[in-house]
Amino acid sequence: MWPSCLLWNPTAPVGFACPRKMRTLLLLLLFIYEARSHAVSMPNFVLLMADDLGIGDPGCYGNKTLRTPNIDRLARGGVSSRSTLAASPLCKPSRAAFMTGRYPIRSGMASRSQVGVFVFSASSGGLPHSEITFAKLLKNQGYSTALIGKWHLGTSCHNRTDLCHHPLSHGFDYFHGLPVTNLRDCKLLVFLPLQVITITLLTLAVLRWLGLVQVPPCIFFCLFFLAALVLGGLLCFLHYFRPLNCFLMRNRDITQQPMSYDNLTQRLTADAAQFIQRNAKTPFLLVLAFLHMHTALFSSKDFAGKSKHGAYGDAAEEMDWSVGQILDVLDELKLANNTLVYFSSDQGAHVEEVTIKGEGHGGSNGIYKGGKANNWEGGIRVPGILRWPGVIQAGLEIDEPTSNMDIFPTVAKLAGSPLPEDRIIDGRDLMPLLQGRSHRSDHEFLFHYCNFYLNAVRWHPQNSTSIWKAFFFTPKFFPEGANGCFATHVCFCHGQYVTYHDPPLLFDISQDPRERNPLTPTSQPRFREILETMQEAAARHAETLQDVPNQLSLGNLIWKPWLQMCCSSSGLFCQCDWEKQVGRGSH
Ligand SMILES: *[C@@H]1O[C@H](CO)[C@@H](O)[C@H](O)[C@H]1NC(C)=O
Ligand SMILES: *[C@@H]1O[C@H](CO)[C@@H](O)[C@H](O)[C@H]1NC(C)=O
Ligand SMILES: *[C@@H]1O[C@H](CO)[C@@H](O)[C@H](O)[C@H]1NC(C)=O
Ligand SMILES: *[C@@H]1O[C@H](CO)[C@@H](O)[C@H](O)[C@H]1NC(C)=O
Ligand SMILES: *[C@@H]1O[C@H](CO)[C@@H](O)[C@H](O)[C@H]1NC(C)=O
Repeated sequence: MWPSCLLWNPTAPVGFACPRKMRTLLLLLLFIYEARSHAVSMPNFVLLMADDLGIGDPGCYGNKTLRTPNIDRLARGGVSSRSTLAASPLCKPSRAAFMTGRYPIRSGMASRSQVGVFVFSASSGGLPHSEITFAKLLKNQGYSTALIGKWHLGTSCHNRTDLCHHPLSHGFDYFHGLPVTNLRDCKLLVFLPLQVITITLLTLAVLRWLGLVQVPPCIFFCLFFLAALVLGGLLCFLHYFRPLNCFLMRNRDITQQPMSYDNLTQRLTADAAQFIQRNAKTPFLLVLAFLHMHTALFSSKDFAGKSKHGAYGDAAEEMDWSVGQILDVLDELKLANNTLVYFSSDQGAHVEEVTIKGEGHGGSNGIYKGGKANNWEGGIRVPGILRWPGVIQAGLEIDEPTSNMDIFPTVAKLAGSPLPEDRIIDGRDLMPLLQGRSHRSDHEFLFHYCNFYLNAVRWHPQNSTSIWKAFFFTPKFFPEGANGCFATHVCFCHGQYVTYHDPPLLFDISQDPRERNPLTPTSQPRFREILETMQEAAARHAETLQDVPNQLSLGNLIWKPWLQMCCSSSGLFCQCDWEKQVGRGSH
């Protein structure tokens, strides 16, 4: 309660008014009190999000050969979760859920086709403006907010300047990074088809010249012409596609087109550190969304060839270095005790990512089955570390199922922001679990979607240690016995690519985390009863879904020339490089 004399009350009898000096003193005390409670009640947030990093990769999750000393240091200082689950096994829907605390299907960010993500910067789909990100909530609370690195939740809707889906339209004050994602095509790795075609062409020409091939000249020249056309087309595509899709932005402007991999991690890390330095005195939210570990893998000179795990290990160790730089800045500025740091990955490692030479460019999902793009545990169980010295118990390990959607309500509450009341928030506050006030996750049921399709339900009954997981369908792995869909490079979510299960395939994850032994009515007497409860929960969940515009419809996925951003200053080929100026400008 406020002392009554501090409230403006012109009708108060004179005898009740405060003496002026006392009033000033009280106001001053109040101000100090307010300022202090502000500092305590408004912690900073640093949310570090890796791309495609598997739970078997960081040292603190049991990897003995990949060196991640900084991620391990973070884990020692905080809570490591063994059951952090991505809301989706694919980048874009997973990130949409992370940002909004809601299943991606609620925002229309769940694809009904085989293409589950945006592949062009000039597509019109994206996180709808009606969605509320945690950045928007925190900005309203007075936070400085930044997203550095990968966005992948859309760019523009109608023209190339509206930037309706851009981070700046979703509560971020500052953006520096890649509007789409790091793509293989960004790194001219697609040489093989070119080489094959060129060699075939030359061989054909030589053989004919030597008179060794007897084809009618008309057919020969037709073939030759066709091959040359394909070759030319591919070259053009490679030349133009890179600058068109792979560019870096700072706020609304392109800073580098095409994006250069030279010291890329270092540049983004330095910018993140500068953001923290600029905002050391105000509450801030920094989302550092690494471009690592998505292919094309890259790393700078200091890391290339240094790890025991090839290009993948080099990139992972560079990312770990970046984590260390951020932790160091927090320490130097004495902000660590007032900052909640989160480290996670948007989904499991991409196990099908193998180069033509047979080198594995996907990470490790530890003991778990499957990986990116499917809902076996390897696809959704990701590293999850939270550190806040003095508030969250250091060195604690938890194994309760939690979700990357939980960051939304957790962060909102800590920042003093009420949750939006006009929509369903699927995430749950993590603080009771992190502080040991509760030993149970608030998620009795979790729903695992594969794009638009409900793939599996997870049930952690209130009074039991069991964690039931029922699959309505499973992806058809190929080749037989493999741990992924190697024929199609990623698993798909419906039609001929999956096997439907009726009754659903049931596992007890608490006993069988590798998902090897589906239960049967004989091995589990309560089989029918358990499935019934889960199917009822799925039906209740389905009733809460609303029809929303599909952000991944064909019309929203295709490349739209009028949305294509292009560095105008340099003229013809959409090429420019202002990155050095960015570095200097923000010093
Ligand atoms: C782009 O669209 C926005 C919003 O629809 C509009 O305000 C703006 O004038 C348009 N810009 C151009 C260059 O057409
Ligand atoms: C990358 O950074 C290193 C160390 O700061 C520097 O020596 C090198 O010149 C940079 N490389 C490029 C291509 O900018
Ligand atoms: C450590 O990570 C590397 C790279 O992902 C992987 O090849 C290796 O199998 C992992 N080791 C363990 C024990 O998971
Ligand atoms: C931060 O908190 C820890 C744990 O409560 C404490 O040991 C340490 O002294 C604090 N550091 C600073 C700089 O306040
Ligand atoms: C858990 O509670 C439910 C209903 O409250 C009950 O049907 C079930 O038997 C209980 N399970 C155990 C393991 O106690």
